[in-house]
Amino acid sequence: MAAQTANLRPLARSMSTALTTLRTTTYRAPVNRSAITLPCYMRSALVPRTQSRHSSYHSPEPVTNAPNARKKVTMVTLRNLYRKGEPIAMITAHDFPSARAADESGMDMVLVGDSLGMVAMGLENTTEVIMEEMLLHCRSVARGAKAAFIIGDLPMGSYEVSPEQAVQSSLRFIKEGRVHGVKIEGGEELAPTVKRITQAGIPVVGHIGLTPQRQNALGGFRVQGKTSAGAVQLLKDALALQEAGAFMLVLEAMPPEVATLITSKLQIPTIGIGAGNGCSGQVLVQVDMTGNFPPGRFLPKFVKRYADVWSEATRGMQQYREEVKSRQFPSPEYTYPITKEELSKFQETVDQTYERLRTGRE
Ligand code: KIV
Repeated sequence: MAAQTANLRPLARSMSTALTTLRTTTYRAPVNRSAITLPCYMRSALVPRTQSRHSSYHSPEPVTNAPNARKKVTMVTLRNLYRKGEPIAMITAHDFPSARAADESGMDMVLVGDSLGMVAMGLENTTEVIMEEMLLHCRSVARGAKAAFIIGDLPMGSYEVSPEQAVQSSLRFIKEGRVHGVKIEGGEELAPTVKRITQAGIPVVGHIGLTPQRQNALGGFRVQGKTSAGAVQLLKDALALQEAGAFMLVLEAMPPEVATLITSKLQIPTIGIGAGNGCSGQVLVQVDMTGNFPPGRFLPKFVKRYADVWSEATRGMQQYREEVKSRQFPSPEYTYPITKEELSKFQETVDQTYERLRTGRE
């Protein structure tokens, strides 16, 4: 064994010298890398990241891989924002690019809402969304949102049966979905469930008002809390969920005055969606607010459209289609070169092979 180690020492030394040479010179002077025999995995690690690669490279990360300078948002960060009265910015995301965009836009929180069933899967509503679909989307979002605090939406059927079922589903969200907390739709009847999930060490966001998973029971996507009795029930729900351990509440589709009053009676932040600007923060569905949907689609009154992604994307694709049809694309700058010498050798070989095949001679 000792003899074997001694035999390897000179090799290790020469590799280390070669590596040092490369590391100190790669970014200053061109080095004839092929002259130094290194295993290919070491060579590729030394190629500067900005160098254009002659391969089909579809990594979701930019080649320059600029480090994300934002500090990670934690429960402490959120609590501090709430204490200071600084509104908390939350947005939904359902895949890697939408999460990455949300994160780079400085969002405090990213919600993997089950609205993805409608905006990403083309379903009529959110009731059909299942655990496995949510977990797949959560994992993709978790890879893209490096700084934001990520919440995953427990889908209908994954928490109503018992607090134990809810804890099991929540644990899967944390362990398989790689999110930081879960959201659950419902009022005071869910207090024991929220308590059980928080006891398992999982942050819970409650969601009251218009709860889309219950749209069948609510008679559709209807504004809530428009009567005094309805508003009182919302306040009771909010207080019960806070008492059970929810660290934040989403208030959806209710008059702003009701949401503001509820917010003022709580010691935890509220995030409004269609609930006015008296909440501790706001959330919107990203696909809605970026205008990434076909013209004519219904949009709730509370959605402000900040961009027109659909127009820009279809404009680009129409131009691409035209250039494909007219053979304008791909022009030479989008192709890989071959030397004249290699090309003529290739041509010769092809001619000979073709001739042999044609005449049937070896
Ligand atoms: O599913 C979702 O996106 C949501 C938000 C609209 C709050 O629940």
